[in-house]
Amino acid sequence: MRGTPETMRASVLTEVGSLAVEDRPVPTPAPHEVLVEVAAVGVCGSDVHYYRHGRIGDYVVTAPLILGHELSGRIAAVGAAVEPTRVGQRVAIEPQHPCRRCRQCMAGRYNLCPHMRFFATPPVDGALCRYVTIDAEMAHPVPDSMSDEAAALLEPLSVAIAAMRKAAVAPGSSVLIAGAGPIGVICAQTARAFGASRIVVSDPVAARRERVAEFGATEVLDPAAVDIAALDPKVDAFVDASGAPPAVVSGIKAVAPAGRVVLVGMGADNYTLPVSYIQNMELIVTGVFRYTDTWPAAIHLVTSGAVDLDSLVTGRFDLEHVADALNSDSDPASLKSIVRPGA
Ligand SMILES: NC(=O)c1ccc[n+]([C@@H]2O[C@H](COP(=O)([O-])OP(=O)(O)OC[C@H]3O[C@@H](n4cnc5c(N)ncnc54)[C@H](O)[C@@H]3O)[C@@H](O)[C@H]2O)c1
Ligand SMILES: [Zn+2]
Ligand SMILES: [Zn+2]
Repeated sequence: MRGTPETMRASVLTEVGSLAVEDRPVPTPAPHEVLVEVAAVGVCGSDVHYYRHGRIGDYVVTAPLILGHELSGRIAAVGAAVEPTRVGQRVAIEPQHPCRRCRQCMAGRYNLCPHMRFFATPPVDGALCRYVTIDAEMAHPVPDSMSDEAAALLEPLSVAIAAMRKAAVAPGSSVLIAGAGPIGVICAQTARAFGASRIVVSDPVAARRERVAEFGATEVLDPAAVDIAALDPKVDAFVDASGAPPAVVSGIKAVAPAGRVVLVGMGADNYTLPVSYIQNMELIVTGVFRYTDTWPAAIHLVTSGAVDLDSLVTGRFDLEHVADALNSDSDPASLKSIVRPGA
């Protein structure tokens, strides 16, 4: 690894609500891995959740953890089994290590691998540092026309692509999306790119409704003022990107017979659903847990101009100011913060 330093700076979550910039050893790529110099890291709601609460469901932070799983960079070195010409390539990182051997991996659903090691999910460190290692095929080359920030945001775009696939959105589809946070805004753009002709987005926050109207929504609704369950005409698919149980219940009732319900938002573990409506309308209700095989589609959607990720960035920070990046959600105008570990 000629030219690569032995130590690097990393922003470490040392305990709930507390971050410190520490020196860490630069990792060595295993034979099938690449070493990536991190260029840009998007801050995600899950990073904020670990920072504030120290846990998400069963994943509990019990040791110092490096946050960040939305990232891009440049290949600095390769393992012995990787084509050496890849050194220098700009890449977007798919931040997961499935086992590739289990039943789910063999069935092509590697996102459901029970042995998954995912960036910034305890005990696996994430990307708020100068260098990371990843399996070579999870480092997807990106064209020079794509910015480092857009390349990092292919990760939330991948969530939206997985959701649109599950929702079976196709040319002429109508879709309701609850929530106009980063995921909802990217879902609206992705629904448009998949050919949806009617894209209704609900959010109680006026500024969020206004922004999503610029990113693909054809109608925006305030769930506090309108009965979403009475939407007329009903939609072919409902994608929840809010995690709010009332949004899920009303959204299900807005779906036409034989339509689809895709639960992306994560909120309460248990709540009451309108089962007789689901049954009588033969709705297909499914969750989405991250993604499988979405980066090629995501790269195409951005390079073709169908999805704009650069315009979602509302703040930029260096490794010393990760806490500010994580706390930027207190500003209603903030949508997506980016950390540049090399800045
Ligand atoms: N399933 C997955 O793999 C996956 C991946 C990434 C994110 N997520 C989840 O997706 C959700 C969205 O992520 P985000 O980063 O955009 O979150 P966010 O918190 O920024 O956005 C949620 C939005 O929902 C809105 N909202 C609240 N109550 C509502 C209601 N009743 N009706 C409509 N909108 C309502 C909020 O005002 C907010 O704008 C989160 O729950 C997150 O955990 C899931
Ligand atoms: Zn995320
Ligand atoms: Zn597996």
